[in-house]
Amino acid sequence: MLLSAKIIGTGSYLPEFIMKNSDFEKILDTNDEWIRTRTGISERHFGIGMENWEMGLQAAQKALLSSNTKPEDIDLIIGTTITPDYFYPGLSNIVQSKLGAVNAFCFDSAAACNGFAVGMDIAWQFIRSGRSKKVLIVSSEALSKTIDFTDRSTCVLFGDGAGAVLLDACEDGGILNSCNMSEADAEGTLACRALPPSNPFIKENERRSIFSGLTGNNLRMGGRETYKFATRALPKAIGKVLEGTGISLDDVKYIVPHQANLRIIEHVADYLGIDRSKMYVNIEKYGNTSSASIPIALDEMVCAGLLNPHDKVIFTGFGAGLNYGAVLLEW
Ligand code: ACO
Repeated sequence: MLLSAKIIGTGSYLPEFIMKNSDFEKILDTNDEWIRTRTGISERHFGIGMENWEMGLQAAQKALLSSNTKPEDIDLIIGTTITPDYFYPGLSNIVQSKLGAVNAFCFDSAAACNGFAVGMDIAWQFIRSGRSKKVLIVSSEALSKTIDFTDRSTCVLFGDGAGAVLLDACEDGGILNSCNMSEADAEGTLACRALPPSNPFIKENERRSIFSGLTGNNLRMGGRETYKFATRALPKAIGKVLEGTGISLDDVKYIVPHQANLRIIEHVADYLGIDRSKMYVNIEKYGNTSSASIPIALDEMVCAGLLNPHDKVIFTGFGAGLNYGAVLLEW
């Protein structure tokens, strides 16, 4: 019997501090109307005085609780983050030690905002090969660490938060298909430099970047280029993940896209000719939380009772790399 992987638990965590659009008006030349109409965002959470792993741990604990799973039963923990607290150990290793998941093998994946789709793909491969049974994916992001609060074109877009899912081996349903793709991005459309070396013989002005003009350690985003990429990539990923499955878009109850911009999500729905209500959207409250946005949305959907057994759902993401992908599953 061929194994697949199904989600048996979900959890999420949003830090307490909420930054509203009107709060940005006090520090930047911006306004609520511009941000809402261009992005769909009204507010976002920032983890002030909080480490990234702490958010991930909270989400992971909720995912275990919701599935009544003991930490020692987890075989594999996959962390997804582009805003880790440490270069090493990984987010997944820290969560393992705090959870007491003593039997888990741990590693992180840094596929930016597409990180959750990549994590699901890897988890699926591990489970269907029989290598792992229970896999925890922890997606935790503290984007507030990397944004330049003087750059109005990027800092209003992002938020902090974490989402987690627990997957278990199954014989029916679960993940039906998964795909991930990458396109070279020579320009560094979405990029953030790593920390400068502490080696005293290397001077900051002697560091070379393969991406022209990319200095400092804040994220850089070409807004228009990203918009064009996203509106092209998401329909492609959705089409590809359905290919050969005998399942059509009409059979899919919800598409849960990476929450980067409401206009991107609506554009994709219109392009695909589907009702906009099929796209699950919560960007208004959280902004773009990178790889955490899909599992946060999923946990919200589960808590609201939106998913029933056998519902078909697609997760689809895109981000720096440029990477994009989709996962099709039967709930
Ligand atoms: N408040 C007020 N004005 C602003 C703001 C702001 N916060 N930000 C930019 N502007 C101004 C610009 O300065 C510009 O002014 P100008 O015409 O006088 O030069 C004007 O608004 C238009 O700027 P554009 O950048 O052309 O605005 P656009 O309509 O393209 O919207 C946006 C910008 C929202 C960033 C859009 O391009 C977008 O959503 N792109 C995709 C972003 C995305 O998906 N990011 C996720 C990346 S993947 C990942 O998750 C890491």
